[in-house]
Amino acid sequence: MRRVRYEVNGGPEVLFVEEVPAPEPGPGELLVRNEAIGVTLPAVRKVREGNAPTPLGGEVAGTVAAVGEGVSGFALGDLVTGLCFSYGYADMAVVHQAMASHVPDGADAVLAVALVRSGLVARGAFEAAAPRPGDAVLVTAAASAVGSLAVQYAKAHGASRVVAAVSSAEKADFVRKSGADEVVLYPDASWGEPVDVVLDGVGGDLLGPAVRALAPGGRLVAFSSGGGVIDAYELLARSASAIGFQMAAIARGKPELYARWREELWTLYRDGKLSPRIHARIPLAQAAQAHEIIESRSNLGKVVLVP
Ligand SMILES: NC(=O)c1ccc[n+]([C@@H]2O[C@H](COP(=O)([O-])OP(=O)(O)OC[C@H]3O[C@@H](n4cnc5c(N)ncnc54)[C@H](OP(=O)(O)O)[C@@H]3O)[C@@H](O)[C@H]2O)c1
Repeated sequence: MRRVRYEVNGGPEVLFVEEVPAPEPGPGELLVRNEAIGVTLPAVRKVREGNAPTPLGGEVAGTVAAVGEGVSGFALGDLVTGLCFSYGYADMAVVHQAMASHVPDGADAVLAVALVRSGLVARGAFEAAAPRPGDAVLVTAAASAVGSLAVQYAKAHGASRVVAAVSSAEKADFVRKSGADEVVLYPDASWGEPVDVVLDGVGGDLLGPAVRALAPGGRLVAFSSGGGVIDAYELLARSASAIGFQMAAIARGKPELYARWREELWTLYRDGKLSPRIHARIPLAQAAQAHEIIESRSNLGKVVLVP
């Protein structure tokens, strides 16, 4: 089978395809024949910042091709989605059953990778803000896979005003169509009327303006893998708080909550409250092109690799 890996000092083509034997699932693991693989900014950052050969992965979806010892609730041929951070960019990937779930009838693998992980991050970040009915919510990187679902999620869960912050006019059009009430372009000095909640998927230099966008008592949820520094005085001056959110920490520490949220996402999809947008389907062998789309910040919604 083919898999894509990242190699330091591998010349200009740092992502390349190699032929390897299919992996064997271990106890509690599924071998998934991938039909779709999500490409995310954290994986792109890994390549950009990495200094060692690195397996690439994230969310995958496809049919179960083999099951390891002790697996229950999954059978050969089932369409599933799950997380695989070790060689997910491949024709076949190993997923632990705790990180896997069935794709419901009527949905396909591409939809599953666009909805489940990004939707979990969007939902989890919103929840972390302890939202109150009528809150005004600002979402940064609002045209990203996570951001576009966060806009929809906040709209569907009682936000009085959802402000989408993006870096280009093209993205502004896109987020308006995703349901944002207002749009701001960054970097910009003014983000309009203060908001109760900021969901920040950018981090770095944007954290300062993001905190300054908060109303008194506001909450900023920082969920970007880019990290960044928050000035405690800026929080104090607004009686505001900053909260970190990482989906992997919930998946590891609160698996029942993770599983419940995952099921709820499909209900929201069926009810028309969440509608993931697919920016591009890229062949697996052209993974470098998929990374380039995200690197150039040109994606509107999810970038998906198809083996
Ligand atoms: N905490 C968690 O559990 C978790 C899990 C997955 C993802 N995330 C985070 O969620 C955010 C969105 O992820 P995603 O996979 O949905 O993103 P994505 O679809 O790959 O889109 C990334 C977007 O981030 C913005 N961006 C800001 N700085 C960037 C940079 N230096 N390089 C490239 N893009 C940059 C761009 O939008 P603009 O041009 O509009 O700024 C870009 O379009 C990321 O920060 C990611 O680290 C967090």
